[in-house]
Amino acid sequence: MDLLHPKITGYLDELAARLDEPVLLEMEEYAAKNDFPIVGRLCGMFLQTMASAIGAQRIFEMGSGYGFSAYWFSRATGPTGEIHLTDTDPENRTRALEYLGRAGLDAPIEYHVGDAFSVFDSTEGDFDIVYCDIDKGDYPRAWEKAKKRIRPGGLFMCDNMLWGGRVTGDPGARDEVKPGWTEAIMATNEAVFSDPDYISFINPTRDGVVAALRTSR
Ligand SMILES: C[S@@+](CC[C@H](N)C(=O)[O-])C[C@H]1O[C@@H](n2cnc3c(N)ncnc32)[C@H](O)[C@@H]1O
Repeated sequence: MDLLHPKITGYLDELAARLDEPVLLEMEEYAAKNDFPIVGRLCGMFLQTMASAIGAQRIFEMGSGYGFSAYWFSRATGPTGEIHLTDTDPENRTRALEYLGRAGLDAPIEYHVGDAFSVFDSTEGDFDIVYCDIDKGDYPRAWEKAKKRIRPGGLFMCDNMLWGGRVTGDPGARDEVKPGWTEAIMATNEAVFSDPDYISFINPTRDGVVAALRTSR
């Protein structure tokens, strides 16, 4: 299911197309050729906008792939930031460091190969943003862990929160990607939106990105 009318997406794509940085184009081409599920340019721009709006410097990514989402966060923090990337696949690390290095965006990057939760637990202190894009069945756990370690005024951001529209009903279609994933996303949305310490909104661009702002402890 298209979440936005294709004409609207086309219009947004046209507006975003004026950013033609060569490494960005290469990263997009790699995703297209290899069917790699990056967050996409429009949502990437949203990540950068939100990170810049709150003056984010310290960011933790759960599920970084080859650094496409981090590309946008690094544009927001500049070289003084501290952006922790995590992925279980070491090839993604190599590819990310190569792309981000050539784009001049690698200064704030600390790429950890391993399970996002273990790496998260090995860090200390609060983050300005925790961004989640791991296997969807693990979203409820990601939210439970992240929400306690986001500073007031910071953000929990998470991709695929509308999951191709499967969250809207038709239980028959819920398990078409992986059993339990739609329910896990729905449970996470419900937990995020009912948390008294956060105000939240889902940007329905592409597959839906939540931005949950921590307002109190
Ligand atoms: C959708 S991709 C990430 C895309 C990336 N955020 C972007 O937009 O460029 C998901 C990635 O998360 C990784 N992953 C899944 N579960 C994970 C976990 N528990 N810990 C670390 N990485 C995980 C996968 O290996 C995969 O590369």
